[in-house]
Amino acid sequence: MTTKSNPYRILVVDDDKDILLLLSKWLTDDGFDVVIAASGEEALDRLNIDEPRLVITDLFMGEMSGMDLLARIHAENPLLPVIMLSGNAQIPDAVKATHMGSSAFLTKPVKQAEILDQVKRALRISPERQQQNPIASEIIYKSKPMEELIELAQMVADSDITVFISGATGTGKEILAKAIHKASPRRDHPFVAVNCGAIPEQLLESELFGHEKGAFTGANQKHEGLFKSADKGTLFLDEIGDMPLSLQVKLLRVLQDLEVRPVGSTRSYPIDVRIISATHRDLDAVVKEGEFREDLYYRLKVVPLHMLSLAERREDIPLLAGHFLQKHHNIGSKKQKHFSPDAMDYMIQAPWPGNVRQLINVVDLCATLSRTETITLNLVQHALQDEPCNLQTLKDAKQEFERNYLISVLKITNGHVANAAKIAGKNRTEFYKLLGQHNIDTADFRSEKNPLTSKNLNV
Ligand SMILES: Nc1ncnc2c1ncn2[C@@H]1O[C@H](COP(=O)(O)OP(=O)(O)O)[C@@H](O)[C@H]1O
Ligand SMILES: [Mg+2]
Repeated sequence: MTTKSNPYRILVVDDDKDILLLLSKWLTDDGFDVVIAASGEEALDRLNIDEPRLVITDLFMGEMSGMDLLARIHAENPLLPVIMLSGNAQIPDAVKATHMGSSAFLTKPVKQAEILDQVKRALRISPERQQQNPIASEIIYKSKPMEELIELAQMVADSDITVFISGATGTGKEILAKAIHKASPRRDHPFVAVNCGAIPEQLLESELFGHEKGAFTGANQKHEGLFKSADKGTLFLDEIGDMPLSLQVKLLRVLQDLEVRPVGSTRSYPIDVRIISATHRDLDAVVKEGEFREDLYYRLKVVPLHMLSLAERREDIPLLAGHFLQKHHNIGSKKQKHFSPDAMDYMIQAPWPGNVRQLINVVDLCATLSRTETITLNLVQHALQDEPCNLQTLKDAKQEFERNYLISVLKITNGHVANAAKIAGKNRTEFYKLLGQHNIDTADFRSEKNPLTSKNLNV
């Protein structure tokens, strides 16, 4: 074996010998290691033997079409880039190939520069390449805007520069913040995340800056605060758009002076943290409404990074779906599943209001529920319907749980209130009150209304 200037091996598949020779020459001249196959079946064999890092395949071939080959390849290895070539390409073919996760679709006759350019582009998203780039190794993408965003993030990771990440919920703001931290010189120190919207105003101040013992009622112990916990590392201020105005002033002062004074303390101490903040809100608008301080906003958004919603980068969907499917597979031990082409099509066109987070849930649900190796369109449609893209509030979730609980207890007791109340650990009056709140009628559970249940229970 000779040492190649380019470490990647490429499998080229075509039933046309001339094309095979031509492509091999171009790629070899550019330093790639090339293996060839004259059919889809042969290509599948070669895949296991040669373990290429990229496949270039013809669309129309004898038995197995390029599209079938693509599906088979991605069933085994969802992240392997596949470039599709076609002699008489139709737009629908190109669309379908892209939807099925091909990296590129090129029309013959293809030019040398064009194919090399696409090969290099596709290899940039290959897992190996992603491992070389600390940020890209965490974040799966192939769309152009994401590529530019990651490049920018990579550039700013090295310094202490303050980063502000905007984007809808579930788009990957936190994973990007973490990736920037991991790619920064602070990587061996803590990454501390705080959700500024989830903590009550009075607590948030002491949570961030710490407090002295006895600083307020209930402060039985000294608390060091998150700025201190994140010392020498990165502090991720998530949902900064929800930070109360009074605290915004204090945060601004901390960022200007680079020192923190714990609640109830007379002394300040210097801080050494990198700040990354994020919000799903449109902070420009929030500033205009007077709910967010403009001076703080400017201090935070030194480098603004915007995460696009999934609907704005649909090319990433097959890759992400494949990635999460493989992750799911690695956790369980059963055979790797894959999405049928029409199921994948459906996912690519779905609205995804919950973005990547929703996609993960849908993939997990499908992988768990699918009895066959191929995940069908039907299952995907159901998963997308069932999967709540916006999480309920705790209050709503509790309400729903309470209602379902009451219903099951009444079912078990055939609508017998005294028994039901006993099981629930309530007295009759309290129990009736609960039923009233949920608008539940015990008559609906009585056995005479439900002879089947009563029969079953009497057995
Ligand atoms: N491009 C991506 N590649 C891999 N995982 C991702 C990507 N984007 C988001 N995720 C995952 O999706 C979920 C939601 O992302 P997160 O960063 O918490 O979103 P946000 O903070 O914007 O709500 C997390 O589990 C995250 O790891
Ligand atoms: Mg988040």
